[in-house]
Amino acid sequence: MLNVHSLPRHIAIIMDGNGRWAKRRGLPRIEGHRKGADAVREVVRASRELGVRALTLYAFSAQNWDRPMEEVRALMELLRDYVVEERTEIMDNEIRLVTIGDRSRLPEFVRQPLEVLIADSAENEKMTLCLALSYGGRESIVAAARRLAEAVVAGDLHPSDIDVGNFAQELSTKVLPELDLVIRTSGEQRISNFLLWEAAYAEFYFTDTLWPDFSRASLYQAIETFQGRERRFGLTSEQVRIRR
Ligand code: FPP
Repeated sequence: MLNVHSLPRHIAIIMDGNGRWAKRRGLPRIEGHRKGADAVREVVRASRELGVRALTLYAFSAQNWDRPMEEVRALMELLRDYVVEERTEIMDNEIRLVTIGDRSRLPEFVRQPLEVLIADSAENEKMTLCLALSYGGRESIVAAARRLAEAVVAGDLHPSDIDVGNFAQELSTKVLPELDLVIRTSGEQRISNFLLWEAAYAEFYFTDTLWPDFSRASLYQAIETFQGRERRFGLTSEQVRIRR
């Protein structure tokens, strides 16, 4: 049974398998993405109801721009529809919407409603929903390194003062709690440039379920598995038990 008192604070999901879901049914890939957007709705609602503090969804990677033009366009339209249609759900449930990634690359028809909802939901405190859009973990680390280098050149920072703490403060994920659980669907077991820094001590949960079939029950299963893990953070098992 899932324990609501020891939930992962921050869950991140690599929503993989939309294309295969569609292919198995003889449907165009975009139908898989459409069904995937329904799964997003269900998982956001379930996370909020459980009391998860933050949920990050890998909706569009920096590398996804290289997919066929029609697929990129369709994904952008699904994102716009999500932001427009879920506005009431997000506001009524006091969810704060944020993004990580290069928002400037998004087309205006996505960026505009997205930015309005980000601003309008900024004071909401029950859960943070973070959409990774045009996001890459390496890109994000490089951007942080560049900002610190600029601070050094400006004379505001000494190189020897750079540490894990102030580096993390340069990442767009600084507004999110520590990442506890990364879920990847569809049987693939890799990180694909997602939250490379943030996943340092996260638990990983891989499932064969394709993203469009991922449900509230699948989320509960992932959290239950997480709760059965022993997290050692570099310590020994004995040390961890003494500290508990
Ligand atoms: C990976 O599956 C999925 C994506 C690249 C896009 C994820 C997008 C959604 C779930 C829908 C829109 C998002 C929101 C937030 C409304 P794939 O296409 O790579 O699947 P495959 O590996 O089976 O081909």
